[in-house]
Amino acid sequence: MSIQEVPTQPIAGQKPGTSGLRKKTRVFMEPGYLENFVQAVFDGIGGIKGQTLVVGGDGRYFNDKAIGTILRMAAANGAARAIVGQGGILSTPAASNLIRTKPADGGLILSASHNPGGPDEDFGLKYNGSNGGPASEGVTAKIHDRTLEMDRYLIVDSAAPDLSALGAFELEGMVVEIIDPVADYAAMMEKLFDFDAIRALFKRGFRMKFDAMHAVTGPYAQEILETRLGAPAGTVMNGTPSPDFGGGHPDPNPIWAKSLMDVMYGSDAPDFGAASDGDGDRNMIVGRRCYVSPSDSLAVLADLAHLAPGYSKGLAGVARSMPTSGAVDRVAEAKGIESFETPTGWKFFGNLLDAGRVTLCGEESAGTGSDHVREKDGLWAVLLWLNILAHKDLSVADLMADHWARYGRNYYSRHDYEAVDSQAANGLMDAVRGQLKDLAGKSVGTLTVAQADEFAYDDPIDQSHSAGQGIRIFFEGGGRVVFRLSGTGTEGATLRVYLEQLETDPARLQIDPQTALAEIIAAADALAGITERTGRDAPDVIT
Ligand code: G1P
Ligand code: ZN
Repeated sequence: MSIQEVPTQPIAGQKPGTSGLRKKTRVFMEPGYLENFVQAVFDGIGGIKGQTLVVGGDGRYFNDKAIGTILRMAAANGAARAIVGQGGILSTPAASNLIRTKPADGGLILSASHNPGGPDEDFGLKYNGSNGGPASEGVTAKIHDRTLEMDRYLIVDSAAPDLSALGAFELEGMVVEIIDPVADYAAMMEKLFDFDAIRALFKRGFRMKFDAMHAVTGPYAQEILETRLGAPAGTVMNGTPSPDFGGGHPDPNPIWAKSLMDVMYGSDAPDFGAASDGDGDRNMIVGRRCYVSPSDSLAVLADLAHLAPGYSKGLAGVARSMPTSGAVDRVAEAKGIESFETPTGWKFFGNLLDAGRVTLCGEESAGTGSDHVREKDGLWAVLLWLNILAHKDLSVADLMADHWARYGRNYYSRHDYEAVDSQAANGLMDAVRGQLKDLAGKSVGTLTVAQADEFAYDDPIDQSHSAGQGIRIFFEGGGRVVFRLSGTGTEGATLRVYLEQLETDPARLQIDPQTALAEIIAAADALAGITERTGRDAPDVIT
């Protein structure tokens, strides 16, 4: 065996954020950059001797090369086995499932999620632990600490096996098992959902479009929707993963999945539309001329999940990230189950899922999932929707109208200001923070503040404390605005402004959300001086 011990030194800025380390691809490609971080992960988790690791990514530019390096480093660090998706492909939820079921000790997932890919775009890497979920805050801190004292990394001389052929290969004492990336995932979905009912739905002429956005879910959606469920060929659009996602931005929202939105709001719109992101963990749901906000989707799924075999016993509880609307809380209250409010980022759901306290969870950023894996799962959400529609035989619009009639409607929108000067963004947050303690009872425009704070979370399972998780301002009458800086951006700062207004008046349940939220939007600007401080007169992205 020939292991090289390559001397190195710490590289600044290797601090994992909301979901691992995200940087420009060219940064990851700099000599030693990827290697330093991978070694910091291996060291930070206490070494990988004798371990089994799952390795795969969303197929973006540099995915295959990076996997080659990771495999050579895993072998040099004494791992026993690496399970790799053919072609280096694994959707994030499929990787999570493999870690849990093989089982493996952990995994490395290569993705910058919904960010564009290519030599001039984004790349990312994250470590998931043996529960299949993103590393906890504590483990992330250990990895970061290790990056600050890096002095060497280990790598074997031999080349990594070609990733295109299935089978088991040997790499200097480590077994590299190259597997079909779809098979295990599809089998799990067959267990959770009523495939017969969904098949019958398609037989009745139900039409759908799934936009894989040239990203990782293409092969998964083709196998599950078209091959196993009998949806007509062509149901999956943009189904071949490409290293730069067809030059697009694989983020399933009305802005970036515009071609799907055009189909769904066009004259010959099918019954149902859905999209997923770069690595397959996000989802967008849209009915015929009816966009479903992710917060509403979570509420509907929580309300009706029992129609799917995997959830027929009901839900233990639900959890949502703090900026997500309170729609799901209303469902939980009606059902008499627990609901939790966690900081942004899927890792905060892990303990609750592991402890069996929650079955379903979700985020306003198009993430929904359950205890079947420890990541959000785009296709899972689409299949649960299909399972529900197969049993209800209602259009998406009628289903939403029924939901709002029973629970009220949490009008919701997120306004993003991207690549804002970091100092200006921090200044804005400081300015709002500075007002917090005197805000209660004050009027802002037409509204009166009921309560204001900066969200902090005490994990009910491991008692860890996470502070500074976004500023919340509640208004009398059920309105709320949240200010938060993104933890996944790669350029400047991204300011996210989350806007919500609860409406229970039956005559006001079908208003355009931006109109319904007009007073909250005005109050947000009055509180934070967004236009003045960011120099922007409108958000870059409204979802
Ligand atoms: C964003 C989303 C967050 C999600 C994360 C990873 O993080 O807002 O809900 O968990 O991506 O997909 P942010 O950029 O806001 O830190
Ligand atoms: Zn993603």
